[in-house]
Amino acid sequence: SSNQMWGGRFASGPDAIMEEINASIGFDKKLFAQDIRGSIAHATMLAHQGIIAEEDKTKIVEGLQAIQQEIESGNFEFSRRLEDIHMNVEARLATLIGPSAGRLHTARSRNDQVALDFRLWVKEELEKTEKALTALIAAFLDRAEEHADTVMPGFTHLQTAQPVTFGHHCMAYVEMFGRDRQRVRHAIEHLDESPIGAAALAGTGFPIDRHMTAKALGFREPTRNSIDTVSDRDFALEFLAIAAIAATHLSRLAEEIVIWSTPQFGFIRLSDAFSTGSSIMPQKKNPDAAELVRAKTGRINGSLIALLTVMKGLPLAYSKDMQEDKEQVFDAAESLELAIAAMTGMVRDMTIRTDRMKAAAGSGYSTATDLADWLVREAGLPFRDAHHVTGRAVALAESKGCELAQLSLEELQAIHPAVTAKIFDVLTVEASVASRVSYGGTAPDQVRRQIAWWRQQT
Ligand code: ARG
Repeated sequence: SSNQMWGGRFASGPDAIMEEINASIGFDKKLFAQDIRGSIAHATMLAHQGIIAEEDKTKIVEGLQAIQQEIESGNFEFSRRLEDIHMNVEARLATLIGPSAGRLHTARSRNDQVALDFRLWVKEELEKTEKALTALIAAFLDRAEEHADTVMPGFTHLQTAQPVTFGHHCMAYVEMFGRDRQRVRHAIEHLDESPIGAAALAGTGFPIDRHMTAKALGFREPTRNSIDTVSDRDFALEFLAIAAIAATHLSRLAEEIVIWSTPQFGFIRLSDAFSTGSSIMPQKKNPDAAELVRAKTGRINGSLIALLTVMKGLPLAYSKDMQEDKEQVFDAAESLELAIAAMTGMVRDMTIRTDRMKAAAGSGYSTATDLADWLVREAGLPFRDAHHVTGRAVALAESKGCELAQLSLEELQAIHPAVTAKIFDVLTVEASVASRVSYGGTAPDQVRRQIAWWRQQT
């Protein structure tokens, strides 16, 4: 009997806390469709193998289908007392079909069940991510094609470096998101093994057919080691790692969009659809979406570190710690989906201010390297000497407050006598960009070649 002094209040106290810390239904109800799909495949296999009767299987499958309908139509009452999605579904099945429900959990544990459900969910999410990245890549390919000839300053250290084209810059992002997409495809291959049938950790004595369930659930093959199967969350970690790298790419793009859309740079104008105003300053147009994409990266990185830290040092096989895997993945997936979609919209919609880009491309002595290269090519100077001569020309222009092309021939010849009037031909941004014909370079034809290659990849 309960304690006379505080039993009335306290007897259920620890239970309530236990229930609260233990329950995962609040978030793992997201796995209902995967759970039901897995249970149908499992029950079908059990009947096929003669482990349960056909009538039981039929009742189980029909009951599970009814439950799926209930959940999808919002007529299912999830109970925290029943801890997780697996037990919520099974308890409801018992109410609907009676004792046959108890046969479903033969040769199965929640350990292999949750590994299955979560893998199926992550696989679908990876497939969605692959599609989303493809849309983002397509948006960039279109902008790159449109702006293969648009000159802009290229930067290192965010200081003007050499003229490039906006198309070339766009294609740099295509490469990054293309690598992300490859990582997604590899991750789908890595996780394409079915955990169901590993049971608690040791396998089972029932004559199950794991190849049958693997095939029914769309996996390439069953996992090989039952202990690893229920201990492994690499598929979740890999998803988060891929998400973190992709988000890092998105954040760099977000940062550039923030910078480019300032009045000082003015390289782009964001569409109204992807910006906000200020409640006090009427002139403002803020790149909130880009800023939030930049911030989501912090969140996604946090999820990766959180799950790595949860998994670190866990003894084999299943430990309840692993229940902490789902929220990180769900949150990161939602953030990544949103971030990619928002970026795709921004890239599609933004106005490219070609005049501003061109003006900036021609300032900051961006063609100084072209001048030095000319001295090497036409006057036979060693590059190091040419670099020094050009440096003096830049210093002179800077002291006069003009561009390199605005120096007179006489002024340039005073710095080095080998200079002729032909040098002015290489000082324009168009000439500079057109000259960069090396494989992968910024010359418009090279960029068009990159675009054509990528068009064939999708
Ligand atoms: N809710 C649990 C999870 O998400 C399911 C597995 C529970 N297994 C166990 N042995 N308690 O990981």
